[in-house]
Amino acid sequence: MKDEVLRCIECGKEYSKNEILYSCQSCGNLLEVVIPLEDVDPVELRKKFDSRPLSVWRYHELLPRMRLSSPISMNEGGTPLHYCVNLGRQLGIDELYIKFDGMNPTGSFKDRGMTVGISKALDLGVKNVVCASTGNTSASLAAYAGLAGLKCIVMIPSGQIALGKLSQAMMHGAIVLAVKGNFDDALDLVVKSSKELGLYILNSINPFRPEGQKTAAFEICDQLKGAPDSLIIPVGNGGNSAAYWKGFSEYGMIGLIDGAPRIFGIQAEGAAPIAKAFEKGVEKIEPIKNPETVATAIKIGNPANWKKTIRAIKNSKGTSFTVTDEEIISAQKLVARTEGLFIEPAAASSVAGLIKLIGNEKIDRNERIVCVATGHGLKDPDSAIRASEKAIEIEPSIDALRRILSK
Ligand code: F0G
Repeated sequence: MKDEVLRCIECGKEYSKNEILYSCQSCGNLLEVVIPLEDVDPVELRKKFDSRPLSVWRYHELLPRMRLSSPISMNEGGTPLHYCVNLGRQLGIDELYIKFDGMNPTGSFKDRGMTVGISKALDLGVKNVVCASTGNTSASLAAYAGLAGLKCIVMIPSGQIALGKLSQAMMHGAIVLAVKGNFDDALDLVVKSSKELGLYILNSINPFRPEGQKTAAFEICDQLKGAPDSLIIPVGNGGNSAAYWKGFSEYGMIGLIDGAPRIFGIQAEGAAPIAKAFEKGVEKIEPIKNPETVATAIKIGNPANWKKTIRAIKNSKGTSFTVTDEEIISAQKLVARTEGLFIEPAAASSVAGLIKLIGNEKIDRNERIVCVATGHGLKDPDSAIRASEKAIEIEPSIDALRRILSK
């Protein structure tokens, strides 16, 4: 089998997989990893996949090849595709699923990309890794860098990330830098400084990260024994939605699925440059200077992967639109109370998006629908407590309890 290459998404210029590059040297656009699929035998591959447990590395034939004897891994992937009996009934949908990627080792989908990204870092022989993050990437990178023995620097927007995520990055021993600005400022600093300071970037502009993330699409197809009709997914920096589309496309090209889902990319109203581009019918974003949303994970005004994700969503025949913070929190509660799943606000934006699609009759209730829940609810306890009824303080007596129960 041929080796994978890096290819510019715009001009097609190719680079060796051993070069440390995040964008095209000719035109400045993002790069993607091209895995050679021509010689892949779908029957053989199916047999191999089925003989291994569900996980990111189950799909190693479709992942970048490394010189390491084994990848840096904590058994990421293999997350539940939760069948939503109650929520489905409430919304009048027969086949509704939530892909609960909050069940990954550090509680978000980032681990799928990080196992590949950190393994690649070791493969390339780098010593220092860096990311900008709204929280989950920093938690994941800190954990995997610890496992790999690499020095880790994370840049977070000062005072703007959820407590659970911050505690993870700190506990795993990363150098945590609180940048005076928002996520976009932090990513800007990462990109500008990486070469000069010898830091390997593990944001989703690193073409190896999406390779790990595309395995969630493979898993869904394997769990359903076919592709879903629609996939609804939160969009922040735009890396994950594009990675899913890459996964569905590769499975389709090999012949492991027929058809592919429409992808609906959901953004929070106050941080929605990609949804706005769809609204206007243009293939270009206008960055938002001061993004605002309760879903801090997707509080991003200038998504680095905008071109990749707009193309992915368009090619899938889907679209992108917004939901309000109220809709996000109400969907988060609904999922927690009907399905027993505690998902973080950004993750709940996919379910808020589904409710809107049903309301507008933009999606058929007979479809097979998957909402992606990207992160665990325990990541952001503050917002959960703010959104819920206060605990009732009582004296430790049966009478006091009886009074409460009789209300
Ligand atoms: N959901 C969660 C829970 C996230 O943490 C993120 C992104 C997204 C959705 C959006 O994914 O950026 O690929 O479109 N979090 C990044 C971070 C930005 O730094 O943790 P995307």
